[in-house]
Formats: sequence, structure tokens, C-alpha cells
Amino acid sequence: MPRVKKIEKKEDKKHRKKKVPVQAVRGMNDILPPEQFIWDYILEKARKLCNDFGFGRIETPILEHTELFYRGVGQITDIVEKEMYTFETQGKDAVSLRPEGTAGVARAYIENGMSKWSQPVKLFYEGPMFRYEKPQAGRYRQHHQFGAEIFGDECSAVDAQIIYLAWKIFQKIGIKNTTIQVNSIGCSECRPVYKKLLVDYYEMKINKLCLDCKRRLSENPLRLLDCKEEKCMQVASSAPQIIDHLCEGCHDHFKNVLEFLDELEISYVLNSSLVRGLDYYTKTVFEIWEDGVEGAQTSLGGGGRYNDLIRTLGGEDTPAVGFSFGIERAVERLLSSGFHLEQKIRKDVFLVQLGNMARKKILRLFDKLIDSNIVAGESLGRGSIKSQLRMANRYNSKLALIIGQKEALDDTVIIRDMESGMQEVVTMECIVQEVKKRLKA
Ligand code: HAM
Repeated sequence: MPRVKKIEKKEDKKHRKKKVPVQAVRGMNDILPPEQFIWDYILEKARKLCNDFGFGRIETPILEHTELFYRGVGQITDIVEKEMYTFETQGKDAVSLRPEGTAGVARAYIENGMSKWSQPVKLFYEGPMFRYEKPQAGRYRQHHQFGAEIFGDECSAVDAQIIYLAWKIFQKIGIKNTTIQVNSIGCSECRPVYKKLLVDYYEMKINKLCLDCKRRLSENPLRLLDCKEEKCMQVASSAPQIIDHLCEGCHDHFKNVLEFLDELEISYVLNSSLVRGLDYYTKTVFEIWEDGVEGAQTSLGGGGRYNDLIRTLGGEDTPAVGFSFGIERAVERLLSSGFHLEQKIRKDVFLVQLGNMARKKILRLFDKLIDSNIVAGESLGRGSIKSQLRMANRYNSKLALIIGQKEALDDTVIIRDMESGMQEVVTMECIVQEVKKRLKA
């Protein structure tokens, strides 16, 4: 701790001396009002669909014990090995900013006794995630996800339903050119057998692998399948495919998932090298890709089944399946496709004042209008009536409510129809009623 303070002091001094503006942390972005429109639009669609599908919203803390991600996401994953923001608290707890949402939601399921609730338990969430990745378009150190998880149902129809929900959210948002990539990565019974086969295969090609893959071969051989290095991709293309080595249970489960997807008439691509970057998955895994672009950055969302996670975290055996998507990626996708949201803010009425006494009246009137659900605008700092009326026009206000010195003394308001320019004096007592009447007309 004292060391951190020392660095802070040094930095403080440097910045004060040179007046260097303090910048946001690299890879972390502000989301400004014009962008919020599109964020709200996406989130409203996603929330509405989740509500329609019977999900309840959950919020879990951004900070969790580091052990949760070690045990949940897996120690030999990029996320946990290289990308977590981990630190020790003053109480000497090792904590991490969450790099993803599923582990925290699973912890909450156990900790809040949700296994006693009527099953399945369906939860959705949204919020910031933190990964120390190399920042680039579509990849940030703080990004936001919207996710949905279903606990307590092992039926393959539920896998299909979660894939359908993910697909449907993108459809509703207006991102239609997507492809669903699906695979099954088996279970604790068949995966070890397959892993052995894979290691045998890769050991014969060891010289053709990148350094990361060489290292991972003994620790996490499945990840070799989705390495993006050209030479590793070539080796992966002839590797044994897990689909041919699933146990009977996993095979039947996957076959059923695909049949349900066929029934829902959603097209998908079987992708035998799709293994996902988190260790908790069992059986079905999937990603939603933008059409025409391949690679990690273009994965709009992803998920799968994770039947062992709750047990790994200390809960009862509970099957589960879920997905999440990156909100920034969805926003960028919409903007690049020329998506245009009606961003004009409309204020039903605009309050115009002249002088301090009038300002006091305006503050009270503004409060009354808000309580009556009338969207009002004001510009308390402006002095000239002309410029305030210009603002009323900019906000497309139907009425301007003007209070000058005389009106302030008489407790009256001039009501001006912005289209016709007609003005009338109304008492303060009757103003809200009169505004409501005119707005309805
Ligand atoms: P994930 O694939 O690691 O899965 O992340 C989900 C989505 O978050 C990605 O498809 C991508 O859109 C977005 N994303 C990930 N990292 C970044 C980043 N650095 N910058 C911008 N966007 C990013 C999960 O996190 C799992 N928890 C999904 C899940 C839920 N599986 C089961 N349930």
C-alpha cells in the first residue's frame, strides 16, 4: 500500500506541474449521451426478450474472490492466466474485477440457495467486465456484456432455447447477418479420451506449432484447435474431431440440440474447432458470428452448457446453460451498418424566464410539470427571451411558458403556442391543467 501512495503522489505532482490532462485508463471508454441512445435501445430489446422468456434480472458484484475465477473459468485459460485485474485488499483478500459474468451468477445461485427455488432458475444480467487484453476495435479492457443463464435443466431443448434467445436478440436489435457456430465438447467421461487422441496427434506435429500451442499441449490441448496462428490452423484442420468421439449421452444430447434448432428454423454451422476460451463448458458450445468476417473479434456473443460448474464451486450437481454478448460489439455493428436512431430529444414545453424572480417561479413550475409527467425543458442560465425561444424550437416544444418580471409579481404565466405564435396569460394555479389540455389537443 505505501508503495502505491508514493506512486500516486509522484504522478499527482507530475500532472499538476505540467497540467497534463488526466486520461481514461487504456482500453476503457466513456459512453457519451449520443451513444447512450443506442445502448438503451439494445438493452431494452434484450431485457424485453428475457422477460418474455421468463428470466429474472440479477446483479452480482463487479469484484469477486479471485478463487472464483480460478475454480470457475479455469486456471489455464487466457482470461485467468493473463487478463485478470487482480489485487489484494487491505484485509489481505485476493480479489479480481470480474472478467465475465457466469462464474459470479453461479456463485450467487449457490450462495442464495436457489437450488431450493422452483427449477429451472432463469437469470439475466448486464454490466461491465474487465480483461487486460490488447485494446483494439471491438476489444476493450473494460467492456460490457448482457447475459442469460438457465440453472437446473439438462434437457437439450433448453440448449436450443438459449441459442434461439441469443439469435432472437440480435434479430430484434436489427443485426440480421449472423451465423450460429455450434459444437459439442463432450463431458468429463468422453473428453479425456478425446484429449489423449488430440495430444497424440499434436505431438507428431509439434514442430509446426506456435510457442503458445507447444506450451498448452500438455495443459489445455483443446485450445490448440482454435489458435489463430496460420500454421496452427493448418495443423488443426486435420486433427481428430471431437464430434466423432463423443460418448453416447453427449452424442444424443447434441443430436437433439441440432434437431430442435432445425425445428426452430435457425440455420447454424457445425464448427468442430469451436472450443471457447473458458474451461467450464460441457457438451454444447456456440458463438454468434457476423457474416463474412471470421475471427475472435467478430464473435458477437457466445455461450454453452456448463453442467459441472456449480459442483466445482461447491454447490449441488446442477446442469446449466447460458450465453452472453458484448454490448460494445453490438453497438459498433449497428453503427457500421448505417443504423440510425431518432435521437432528437423532444420537450413538450419549454420554460422561458426573465430575471431572478422569474427563475424562482420557473424552478417551482418545473417541479410541478415533472410531477404531472410533462417533459419540460429550461435554460436557467440564459438571459435573453429570444435565445430561450430558439431552444424551445430546437427541442420541438409545442408550448413555451414564459415568466417575466410582471408575470412573476402577478403569479401568472404567458403560454405561447410555438407554431402559431399565439400567446395567452394563464394563472399559475391553472397552468398545469391548461398545458395538459393543449398537449392533448
Ligand atoms: P465470452 O465469449 O468470453 O463468453 O464473452 C462473451 C462476449 O463478450 C463475446 O462474444 C464478445 O462479444 C464480448 N467480449 C468479450 N471480451 C471482450 C472485450 N475484451 N471487448 C469487447 N467485447 C468483449 C463469456 O464471457 C461467457 N461468460 C458467456 C457465457 C454465458 N457462457 C455461458 N453463459
